[in-house]
Amino acid sequence: MSASRLRVAVLASGRGSNLQALIAARDAGTLPVDLVAVGSDKDDAGALQLAKKAGIPTFSLDPKAFARRKDFDFELFRRLTATGAQALVLAGFMRIIDGAALAPWVGRMINIHPSLLPKYRGLHTHRRALDAGDTEHGASVHYVTAELDGGPVIAQARIDMVPGDDESALAQRLLGFEHQLLPAVLALMADGRIDFIAPNRVALDGKLLDAPLQLRNGTLVD
Ligand code: GRF
Repeated sequence: MSASRLRVAVLASGRGSNLQALIAARDAGTLPVDLVAVGSDKDDAGALQLAKKAGIPTFSLDPKAFARRKDFDFELFRRLTATGAQALVLAGFMRIIDGAALAPWVGRMINIHPSLLPKYRGLHTHRRALDAGDTEHGASVHYVTAELDGGPVIAQARIDMVPGDDESALAQRLLGFEHQLLPAVLALMADGRIDFIAPNRVALDGKLLDAPLQLRNGTLVD
């Protein structure tokens, strides 16, 4: 742990392959962050096991233990603040978060979403892209705002549809690119190169982006 590295907490509800990609990039030295905590709304999330194996402190909170959705959200952010995290990554965190609860983190919280936003906010993105007959698909990393999957997009990975693609083949192929995209965007954040510009823009090196960065050959390009 070094004082100058960005302290990052991750929230995940599922298997945690994107979390694993962050851990791998950190270990490889390409992602200069300290992963200070992994939190979940599911105590059996694979992500928590992966975190424990990597020696990252974990916690889980049961939504059913709270009378109101937003009580859970406020407690979640209270716990995250207590970890000393400076930035948050949602890596497959499958809950809609209360706008007032997340407000203090706007500009410091990113999410990975498996579609080329603004297309297909919400669930079943692969199926919806297939049903629409799209010729390309992709993943986006965006700043989290009160609008579900609606915050400004920082960067995207695009893939071509191939004949015979079904929902699971597509999801699997895209995942490999998600695993490059998320660490690459978090590295930009860790290096202080990107900023959220209210209400819905992104700046890279102090200059507003007209379009999301694109992942090409493992690198983000303007
Ligand atoms: C990924 O497809 C991500 O884009 C979406 O949820 C999935 C999480 O997968 N938000 P994993 O738990 O990181 O393997």
